[in-house]
Amino acid sequence: MPIDVAAHELIGREHPAALLRAEITRVIGSHGGLVLVTGEAGIGKTTLVTSAAGEARRLGALVVGGACWDSDGAPGYWPWVQVIRALRRAAEPEEWAAAEQAAGGSLAALLGEAHPAPESPQADGGPAVADAFRLFDAVTSALVTLSQRRPLVIVLEDLHASDAASLRLLEFAARQTWFERLLLIGTYRDAEVEPVDHPLRDLLSPLVAKATTITLNGLDEAGVGALMTLTAGQAPPSELRAAAGLGGRTRRLGDEAERARKTVTARIRDALRKLDRAHPELAAHLRAAVSTGSTGSTGSTCRYRPGDAPITWRL
Ligand SMILES: Nc1ncnc2c1ncn2[C@@H]1O[C@H](COP(=O)(O)OP(=O)(O)OP(=O)(O)O)[C@@H](O)[C@H]1O
Ligand SMILES: [Mg+2]
Repeated sequence: MPIDVAAHELIGREHPAALLRAEITRVIGSHGGLVLVTGEAGIGKTTLVTSAAGEARRLGALVVGGACWDSDGAPGYWPWVQVIRALRRAAEPEEWAAAEQAAGGSLAALLGEAHPAPESPQADGGPAVADAFRLFDAVTSALVTLSQRRPLVIVLEDLHASDAASLRLLEFAARQTWFERLLLIGTYRDAEVEPVDHPLRDLLSPLVAKATTITLNGLDEAGVGALMTLTAGQAPPSELRAAAGLGGRTRRLGDEAERARKTVTARIRDALRKLDRAHPELAAHLRAAVSTGSTGSTGSTCRYRPGDAPITWRL
């Protein structure tokens, strides 16, 4: 059951919350940076960041966010599209006008009001590189312009499901954060990008090198008890708390199922990627027919629905 962190205290997490608070205090007073909050599914990344975002808002920062969507149907730069749209909604008209001017009119592509946003730059150069660079520069200039009027906090959720171009744009924008009141916060499930052949691994490493990383582990036994009390409306018997906490390693019971789910999801995705090259038609069919039940938060089902039409495959 989701808990409204606006209405409840954040349970436990004193140390990670203090680290985030320090980043927020710094961005309000002088300059920002890049923070990555990592940990397994359901561990509390969004809860922690939501609480910090509320604090930043109370201190006068403009806070907006976007979430990556784990689907091939998501348009390129999807988390940034949400950020730019949210900024347009949240900024004062004159703030937004200044941001758009700084971006030289290039935000329209992200907002779907002009030609589609350029592909991620490829190593071999060419026009795609120049177009993507222009877009990176435009978005960064808009963020910098807004941050010069009031501190700006951007939250990008679930980067493990990002498109490559969005991560490159994040890396580009992060370079400016040290000079401006601009704080970029990203969250991702670290275990999901662990496989050596994961396509985002190489893009996340330079980000990790620049970031303050906050890795969340399970709550301690007292935290588990408090969370269960909040969720169930009454204190759990000590045996249950101890069983769920397993002596402080709070999520051990759920962990194996969660690890298995993540492994299966990652394997399905890897297999589909390989099939894309070997048999694109079959890959497209499977991509449409298999769903892992992932909705942006913890998914727990895997279904194959081939549809009614008979299919004859030539392999
Ligand atoms: N420290 C906490 N205090 C109160 N509630 C918490 C805490 N940590 C987690 N929760 C609750 O646990 C649930 C899962 O937390 P959350 O959505 O923050 O996890 P997550 O790490 O963002 O997961 P995902 O990787 O799936 O996005 C939520 O209902 C949240 O309210
Ligand atoms: Mg989350």
